[in-house]
Amino acid sequence: LGVRLNRICCIGAGYVGGPTMATIALKCPQLEVVIVDMNEDRIKRWNSDELPIYEPGLTEVVKACRGKNLFFSTDVKKGIEEADIIFASVNTPTKTQGVGKGRAADLRFIESVGRTIAQYANRSKIVIEKSTVPIKTAEAIARVLSANEAAAGGSKNFWILSNPEFLAEGTAMKDLDEPDRVLIGGQDQDAIQVLADVYANWVPRDRILTTNLWSSELSKLVANAMLAQRVSSINSISRLCERTGADVKEVARAIGTDSRIGPKFLNASVGFGGSCFQKDILNLVYICQQFGLEECAAYWQQVVDMNDYQKTAFTSKIIQSLFNTVTKKKIAVLGFAFKKDTGDVRETPALMVCDMLMKDGAIVHVYDPKVVIEDALTEFKYHDLEVNTNQLIFSKSPQEACDGAHAIVVLTEWDEFKTYDYKSFYDKMMKPAFLFDGRNMLDHAALVDIGFEVHALGKGQIKSSGGQSQIPDFVTRAGSGLLSGGYSP
Ligand code: UDX
Ligand code: UDX
Ligand code: ADP
Repeated sequence: LGVRLNRICCIGAGYVGGPTMATIALKCPQLEVVIVDMNEDRIKRWNSDELPIYEPGLTEVVKACRGKNLFFSTDVKKGIEEADIIFASVNTPTKTQGVGKGRAADLRFIESVGRTIAQYANRSKIVIEKSTVPIKTAEAIARVLSANEAAAGGSKNFWILSNPEFLAEGTAMKDLDEPDRVLIGGQDQDAIQVLADVYANWVPRDRILTTNLWSSELSKLVANAMLAQRVSSINSISRLCERTGADVKEVARAIGTDSRIGPKFLNASVGFGGSCFQKDILNLVYICQQFGLEECAAYWQQVVDMNDYQKTAFTSKIIQSLFNTVTKKKIAVLGFAFKKDTGDVRETPALMVCDMLMKDGAIVHVYDPKVVIEDALTEFKYHDLEVNTNQLIFSKSPQEACDGAHAIVVLTEWDEFKTYDYKSFYDKMMKPAFLFDGRNMLDHAALVDIGFEVHALGKGQIKSSGGQSQIPDFVTRAGSGLLSGGYSP
C-alpha cells in the first residue's frame, strides 16, 4: 500500500477513542499514537491528572504511556498529516431534528471528520471507522474523500475500514486487553492486514475476524440490539414475576444454565441505559424502515418501548407505595450513572425516574460515587427535561442523601452500596421507611429485618429472614393496577 506503519492518529478523545488508543500505545511501544479532539477542555483534562472519563485501570495506562508514545492534542491538522492510519472515533448521537428525527444517527461529526481528512491529508492513508454508525457509512466517507481528492486533481488513495469497538464502559480496559474478538471489515485485503497486524501485538490471530464492510458495520448494531433485547426480555418477565409470586432471579438462574441461552445479561433492572443500546436499536429500526421492512422495525422498536415501560412502571410503583404522592417528600436516590464503575450518565434510566419523581413534586437527593451534577444537568437538558435545582440535590455522602428521607431508591449497582450500614440510614428516615431496589442487588430479607418496607424488581412480597412479611397486603395488591401510560417525559 505504501503506507508506513509507525504513527496512528485518532480523531475523537471520548469514551471509545481514549481507552482504545491508550491500550494500543501500551501494547505497541513501537508505534506513536496521537489522539486529537476539537474540544480543548477535554484535551486539557487528558493531559492532566484528572482524566475526563472514569474507567477502572485507565489512569495507570495513560500515565505509563503519555509523553512517551501517547499524545493528546487539539491540533487535528498535524495529527492527520503525520499519521498513516487514522481512526475516526467521534460521537454519533440520534438525530434530534429533521428527517429521521429520534431514530436516525446524526452523522454530522463523522462527515466532518471525512471532510477534515480530505482537507489535510498530505498522502495516502488508511481511514478506520471506530464509531457506531449505520450501515453504509463507510461508503459515504469514502465518497467524501474521493470526491474531494478528484476535485483537487490529486492521486492519493484512501482505504476505508470498519473496525467497530465492542468494549463496555466500566470494564473497558479489560475488554480491550482480552477482547472476545476484533472485527475488521473492508474491501482491500492489504489494508485489513495492516490493521490486523496492529491488534496481533496482543490479540490472538484467531480472534481477529475479517469480513466485508457492511457485515462489519451491521454487526455492531446487531450485537447491541441483541444484548439490549435480552435485558428487555428479562425485564418484561420481572413484571410478570411481581404479579405471580415468582422470583425473576430464580427464573434467570434456571434459564441461564441452558447453554443455548447462557447466564449473562439476564439481570432484571430499572432499565438499560448508556450511549449505545437505545441509539443503535433506533438506528436499526430506521434502517429496517428505509428498506420497507415495517414488521422488522416494529419488532426491534418493542425492545426500546419495553425499556421505557420498565422505567415508568418502576417509578409508578414508588409513587403508589408512598401513599400515591411524593410531593415535598425527600427521596434518596443511590446511583445516577447508567451502570456501575462509570461516571457516564448518557441515557441513564435515572433520568426518567428522577424526572417523574420531580414532576410529582419530590425533592430528589442523589448520591453517586462518580457522577458530577453538571453532567447530570446537561443530560436532562439534552432530553429537553426541565430541572428545578431546588428539587434535585447532589449529596456528598449516602448518609446525607438518606437523612430524613421517606424512601431510598437504588438505581445503579455500585459495589459500595452493598457495604452500607442501612440500620443507621433507617434510624434517621421518615417512617414507614421504604427501599426500592432497582438493581436487585441488596440483601432484601436483612433490610426487612431492619424495618424497611422493601420493593425489589421481579419479586412479590419480601419476607423477613424469619419469614414474616412486613408489607401490608393492600399495598402489593394496589400495585397491580399501576398506571403505565400516564407519564410523558
Ligand atoms: C424445544 C426446546 O429446545 C426444548 O428445550 C424444549 O424442551 C422443547 O422445545 P424442540 O422444539 O424439539 O425443542 O427443538 P429446538 O431445537 O429448540 O428447535 C425448535 C425450532 O427452532 C426448530 O424448528 C428449529 O429448526 C428452529 N431453530 C432453532 C432455528 O430456526 N434456528 C436456530 O438457531 C435454532
Ligand atoms: C454496550 C455493549 O455491551 C458494548 O459491547 C458496546 O460496545 C457498547 O454498548 P455499555 O453500554 O458500556 O456497553 O454497557 P453494558 O454493560 O452493555 O450495559 C448497558 C446497560 O444495560 C446498562 O444500563 C446496564 O445496567 C444494563 N444491563 C446490562 C441490565 O440492566 N441488565 C443486564 O443483565 C446487563
Ligand atoms: P464515544 O462514546 O463514541 O467515544 P464521545 O462523545 O465520548 O463519544 O467522544 C467523541 C469525541 O469526538 C468528543 O470529544 C468530540 O469533541 C470529538 N469530535 C467530534 N467531532 C470531531 C471532529 N470533527 N474533529 C475532532 N474531534 C471531534
